[in-house]
Amino acid sequence: MQFHAMKAGAARQRTACAIVGVHESGLLSDAARRVDRASGGAITRVLKRGDFSGKATDTFPIVGVRRGPAERILLVGLGAKSGFGRKAYRRAIFAATQWLAKGGAANATSWLAGDGVPGLDAGYAARHAVESVHNALYRIPDLKTAKKPPQPKLSRFGIVVPDADHAAAERGIREGVGVAAGIAFMKDLANLPANVCTPSYLADAARSLAKAHKSVSARVLEEREIRRLGMGSFLSVTRGSDEPARLIVLEYSGGRKGDAPVALVGKGITFDTGGISLKQPPGMDEMKFDMSGAASVLGAFKAVAAIGAAVNVVGIIPTCENMPSGRATKPGDIVTSMAGKTIEVLNTDAEGRLILCDGITYARRFKPRAVVDIATLTGACVIALGAHYCGLFSPDDGLAASLAAAGERADDRAWRLPVAEEYADLLKSNFADMANVAGREAGAITAACFLWKFTDGLRWAHLDIAGSAYLTGAHKGSTGRPVPLLVDWLLHGD
Ligand code: BES
Ligand code: MN
Ligand code: ZN
Repeated sequence: MQFHAMKAGAARQRTACAIVGVHESGLLSDAARRVDRASGGAITRVLKRGDFSGKATDTFPIVGVRRGPAERILLVGLGAKSGFGRKAYRRAIFAATQWLAKGGAANATSWLAGDGVPGLDAGYAARHAVESVHNALYRIPDLKTAKKPPQPKLSRFGIVVPDADHAAAERGIREGVGVAAGIAFMKDLANLPANVCTPSYLADAARSLAKAHKSVSARVLEEREIRRLGMGSFLSVTRGSDEPARLIVLEYSGGRKGDAPVALVGKGITFDTGGISLKQPPGMDEMKFDMSGAASVLGAFKAVAAIGAAVNVVGIIPTCENMPSGRATKPGDIVTSMAGKTIEVLNTDAEGRLILCDGITYARRFKPRAVVDIATLTGACVIALGAHYCGLFSPDDGLAASLAAAGERADDRAWRLPVAEEYADLLKSNFADMANVAGREAGAITAACFLWKFTDGLRWAHLDIAGSAYLTGAHKGSTGRPVPLLVDWLLHGD
């Protein structure tokens, strides 16, 4: 897929499809008017007949256009002109790319940002267009045996921007291409079934990522080494599984040598049965997505390496299965974490925090300037926020604000919830330093507070992506989130 920025004044090359925005009541932007004039009034003819109203996300293809910039003109509704901004732009580019992915156009040009988008700089307009095209073209590498429908032909995409914004748009394209590669990397891993995507498979993915990019290195620790590190909490989760656990350590060096890195710690449970505290059958298949935090770390590495971001990043991925068996950890068992704290495992289904606390402790050896963990951690977070915002937790106001701002810019939002002693108190145990669960109340917050207790002296934040990392139902599959947020934060945050 090739992307290029085009100046509105110079976009004369004829393509297979021009994407043109129309406001409600048939108002045309300057860019749209330019396409209309060059095509001999093809757009105004449609509007005069009353065939298209400009309602947000409605589309109307005009085909067989003889003159002007394209043989097809796809009209996309932008809604009321007064309300046009980044949201309407994103919805329009989404609708247009969904349409394109179903059709036969091999190249296309978007004029949607041709006059600029109020409240959105041209770099982001371009970046969102690139991500949208890739998301529309993405296909799950499924194991269906029927003949596959042909791949969409689309292979070139132009983005028209105001003349002065050309350089910004080129930068946005560069970022977008990297982010899209990271999203696809995450989606492919997360969509795989758990009998394929095992901890060893994730380790191999990390190694091949390192092989593909000189700036990335990967180390994989086996159970023997994990034991030597004293990760008793992590190892208590893998006890019931026949698949060996792995600790994956990634390093990306794009910043100055010696600059403190950012550490990303991703939950890599390749299947979560709940263990002895076994889950109910309905929807249990979705627990193959319980490695989405890990996949998002791998995706973020793919993206920063592709972009060549000027930062240092370490990725730490504790990965294993959570299975019941005769050897599995039982409710009431007490384990010792790498930090030395003892933990009473009251519920073996609260396993994410047990592997992450050791991952966070391991991160300390890199003297990171910030640690962000990413995890499909709690069903309670899905109840609180649904699929649209992920949960954001941090005792550090500045870090929380910069992550939330990155999510806004990247259109991959996070909503802050509290971490506070009142909630941490609920994790008290009669038998160990702490329990791994509290009651039903505030489940996403008590989970975050469990991790918080391992972050003394660190600048730390936690993203609970249980609701946002994948879709259920007819569109079941990984969303690639929060790769856009993480990459935006690594590039522009802080
Ligand atoms: N992986 C789950 C969280 C989850 C639930 C993710 C639903 C996506 C959708 C996690 O390991 C878990 O089981 N959490 C428990 C914690 C509880 C036992 C305190 C939960 O949320 O029920
Ligand atoms: Mn669980
Ligand atoms: Zn889990």
